[in-house]
Amino acid sequence: MVDFTREEREAVYRAIYARRDIRRFRPDPVPDDVVERLIDAAHHAPSVGFSQPWDIVVVDDEETKLEIKDIASRAIAAAQQGYTERKEDFGKLKLEGIEESPLNVCITCDPTRGAPHVLGRNTMREMDVYSTCLAVQNLWLAARAEGVGVGWVSFLYPHEVREVLDIPHHVQPVAYLCIGYPEGGFPEEPVLQQEGWRERIDVEELVHYGGWDPAKEPDGSVEAASD
Ligand SMILES: Cc1cc2nc3c(=O)[nH]c(=O)nc-3n(C[C@H](O)[C@H](O)[C@H](O)COP(=O)(O)O)c2cc1C
Repeated sequence: MVDFTREEREAVYRAIYARRDIRRFRPDPVPDDVVERLIDAAHHAPSVGFSQPWDIVVVDDEETKLEIKDIASRAIAAAQQGYTERKEDFGKLKLEGIEESPLNVCITCDPTRGAPHVLGRNTMREMDVYSTCLAVQNLWLAARAEGVGVGWVSFLYPHEVREVLDIPHHVQPVAYLCIGYPEGGFPEEPVLQQEGWRERIDVEELVHYGGWDPAKEPDGSVEAASD
């Protein structure tokens, strides 16, 4: 296969930087061919031992969405109880678009897929879930390139999601995604940053050359040795 052209390379980075978590959706449906491409993008993610542990449950009927929304509402209310200082700020955040988005997708992880000999999962059992997350990211980036928004909802009780969607007991719901065209377009920066909840960390603070440097200051500089 030939190398990427400059334009193709730039397009990949553009999808990465312009991807956003979307919680506000227009009601118009995502065409079937677009949905098929997103699912196929997910299915081309890397996976430990090429185990492909994901399944993709597509939900578009209102009744099922409402059942999931009910789970999310309870999980969000419970989370809010745990806040003291930022309780009010938390209450203002929109944390899911389950009902408004025309399509919901649950991506699951089946730990038995390819077992017992999943190449590379011997000492790090959670590799199957990591692989599933990469399928999510593939879908998320492909969606951005298609102009489609995706919002990940983690305020859920997985055992209840499993029951609503008839997911087998041994299969783990990993990502519940709301999918549709974003109301008001794609924000320039993460919504949590826009709303003053949290800022992107300077990458310099997070890179350790040659091993973890305990003397590294939060601003990325290295503390002088004291004696
Ligand atoms: C594993 C995971 C779970 C998330 N769960 C939620 C959620 O329940 N509700 C929500 O509004 N956003 C959720 N998000 C979105 C993050 O808040 C978002 O990715 C982050 O603020 C950065 O913004 P960006 O994705 O637009 O760059 C989740 C993201 C990830 C990766």
